Order: sequence, then structure tokens, then C-alpha cells
Amino acid sequence: MRALLLENVHPDAVALLEDAGWAVESVDRASDESELIAALGGVDLLGIRSKTDVSAAVLAAAPQLLAVGAFCIGTNQIDLAAAGARGVAVFNAPFSNTRSVVELALAEIVALTRGLTQKNADMHAGVWDKSAAGAHEIRGRRLGIVGYGNIGAQLSVLAEALGMSVSFYDTADKLALGNARRCESLDELLACSDIVSLHVDGRSSNRDIFGEQQLAKMRRGSLFLNLSRGFVVDHGALRAHIESGHLAGAAVDVFPHEPAGRGDEFVSELRGLPNVILTPHIGGSTEEAQQDIGRYVAGKLRDFVIDGSTTMSVNLPHLTLPQRPDGHRIAHLHHNVPGVLATINGLLADNKVNIEAQLLGTRGELGYVLTDVSVDYPRAVLDQLAAMDETVRVRLLS
Ligand code: NAI
Repeated sequence: MRALLLENVHPDAVALLEDAGWAVESVDRASDESELIAALGGVDLLGIRSKTDVSAAVLAAAPQLLAVGAFCIGTNQIDLAAAGARGVAVFNAPFSNTRSVVELALAEIVALTRGLTQKNADMHAGVWDKSAAGAHEIRGRRLGIVGYGNIGAQLSVLAEALGMSVSFYDTADKLALGNARRCESLDELLACSDIVSLHVDGRSSNRDIFGEQQLAKMRRGSLFLNLSRGFVVDHGALRAHIESGHLAGAAVDVFPHEPAGRGDEFVSELRGLPNVILTPHIGGSTEEAQQDIGRYVAGKLRDFVIDGSTTMSVNLPHLTLPQRPDGHRIAHLHHNVPGVLATINGLLADNKVNIEAQLLGTRGELGYVLTDVSVDYPRAVLDQLAAMDETVRVRLLS
């Protein structure tokens, strides 16, 4: 097995794949399409982060490629449909940085509630203002969380541990953790919260869900945080509510238009407001998160190669079949049409191969079946499975 890891993936990922006995080449930068096509000859596993595009052309040029690890959260840079159609599994790390986002949100809540942005600016300007006016504890304040998913729910738990009261609103029916109180509507949450923090996902219907109307319904003197997606909030309206004094402050980590790279100018209506903390989309950017992403995605690649496990894959049906000490495992990815399992099992039976364990899963147009068979089996079976019309890819794993 050969793995190529681009974009400076964490060394823990390299170590994990090398421990599996595989050759790993690690490169510290992204590749463009033609470079990538040239580099993929003989590569079984590709690791990328957000700056390398894995297009249909790249996948077509690398027929031996088994899996792509996105050592990040997003997978927009990968043509997932083309990968699925070629039987290339894609994995990412959707949860590795949730804690980092939560910690930044809490830090910003404390900083804004104590007026630290102003105090810090004053001190750098030589002004010693020791006044307690406008500075508060967060204990006892009500935090309203919009979007009670992985991040929102973890924020809820830690905020309560700090003595805050928590309300949340989610479009899905979510279990309230601790003493958190579920709100039936966004309006209900806005009416009762001292701090509103957005943690919704990036579905397209969330565009502009937080604008003039919603900001106007927030309590006077309350705080606003967005560490979810930039396109969710109307920044012009947010500026107006900060300048009017209706809102006491805000912290924003994500923007509708973010600079493409380091050094490009950051343009935003929110610049120049002393009580607004602006951060360059770093909610999830910690060394701990990068390390966990490395461990998590490399582990998924290893398990896919060795066991055929696709659990948490972005594009294939999710399956994990416990390993058996002896025997062989066949992984068969196919078009999700009626009768495939019967055909597979018929071929095995015709060749007198006994099935010892089997698991099937489907997802959209793809079906995936892991089959453990007895030690002795004729090689012809694999050829027959590969020759089935419905077969996308077949692998013998052990
Ligand atoms: P998640 O998918 O676990 O949770 C999102 C929750 O929002 C779900 O429970 C969903 O039902 C709910 N939701 C969606 N639309 C809603 C709406 N209009 N009103 C109320 N609830 C709604 O996502 P996760 O992992 O918690 O991430 C949350 C957000 O944080 C995502 O947008 C993600 O991209 C962003 N994020 C930002 C980072 C940063 O660096 N600032 C790092 C990691 C994630």
C-alpha cells in the first residue's frame, strides 16, 4: 500500500499509516489538478485538506485509488459522486474540532461580558480605567443556543458548568442536556436570552436566517455570536444594531466572503467596531483539533483498507463487520438494484463457498456488502463477482 498525504497533514496520521506497514509520502503543500494526476501513479490512499481539489478527472486518472481522506471538516473540494461511482471511499473528520469551537465561544462570551475588548484597547492606548461599570459575571446569564448539534450541545454542557442558564432552539427534535430548556421557536429564544450564539449547519435554507427582524427581537444590551457559517447573518443589520447600542457586543468568526489566503485584505461591514470581536474563521483551528483530525481520518483509512469498514464514510453505505480470526473477507460495492445480494450468494454457493458472516448496506445509488467466507475458495469466485454487471468494485481483504 502507498499513501500520499498533501497539505501538511498532522504527523500522527503519518505514524498511524506507517504503523499499518504502508509507505507514506507526506508533502507540505496542495497540488493542482495536473500535479495531482502525475503524483497519483501507484498511490492507493490520498490524504488532502481543503486546498486540493479531487475532481472527476483526477479520479479517472487514478483507477487504483482506494480512498481519499479529507483531513478537515468540509468535503466540497472532492467530487463525491465521481468517487462513489468509482468505488473510492471518502472520509473526513466532522467532529474533531467541536471542542475548539466551544472553547472559543466561551472565551468570547466572557471577554464581551467583561468589556475586555475595550479595556484592552484602552490599556494599549495608555488609559487606566479600573471601573466595573458594564462588566458582569457570566454566572446566571441566559445563553440562547441556535442549532443544538455537536457544537451547540457541547457548548450547552460547558456553559452550564460555568453557571449559565441555557436555552436552545433547533429545527430538529433534540434531547435537552443537563438543565437546558428547549424553546419552541426562535422568537421565544431571542426574547429570553442575554447572549445568542449561532451553531446551525450550512444547509442552503439557512442563508440569511438571521437579519434585521431577528436582531430587533433580541433583548436590549444582549450579545450576539456567530461561529457557524458566514452566509447565515446579515452583517449590515448587525452593524446597525451594534452602533445603535441595542446590542452590547458581538463575536463573529465566519463571514459571507472570506479572503482566499493569508495576506488578502479582509473586507467586512463589521470592521472598526470596538465591541465586536472578529476572528479569521479559527473556531476549530487548534493544534489539538489538527492532531485529532489526523488520528481520526487516518484510522478510518486504515479500517477501510483492512476491514472494509465504511462507518462514517462521506459517500459510501456505512458498514462495519466484526473481524474473524480465520477466513477471508470480500468487500463488494455495487449499483443499488434488486437482486445483487442473491446473485453474489448464488455465485458463492455455486462455487461451494460457505458464507460465515455477511452484512449489506445501501446508500443512494450504491450498495455495499461485506462477506466473510471459509478459508478455501476458488480464485474464480472473485473473477465472477468482478464480472457482474452491477459491480462497481470488489476487493479481497484477507
Ligand atoms: P451539526 O450538524 O451537528 O448541528 C447543527 C444543528 O443545527 C443541527 O442540530 C440542526 O438541526 C440545527 N439547525 C439547522 N438549521 C437550523 C435552523 N435554521 N434553526 C435552528 N436549528 C437549526 O453541526 P456542528 O458540528 O454542531 O456545527 C455547527 C456549525 O459550526 C456548522 O455550520 C459548522 O460548519 C460550523 N463550524 C465552524 C467552525 C469554525 O471554525 N468556526 C468549525 C467547525 C464547525
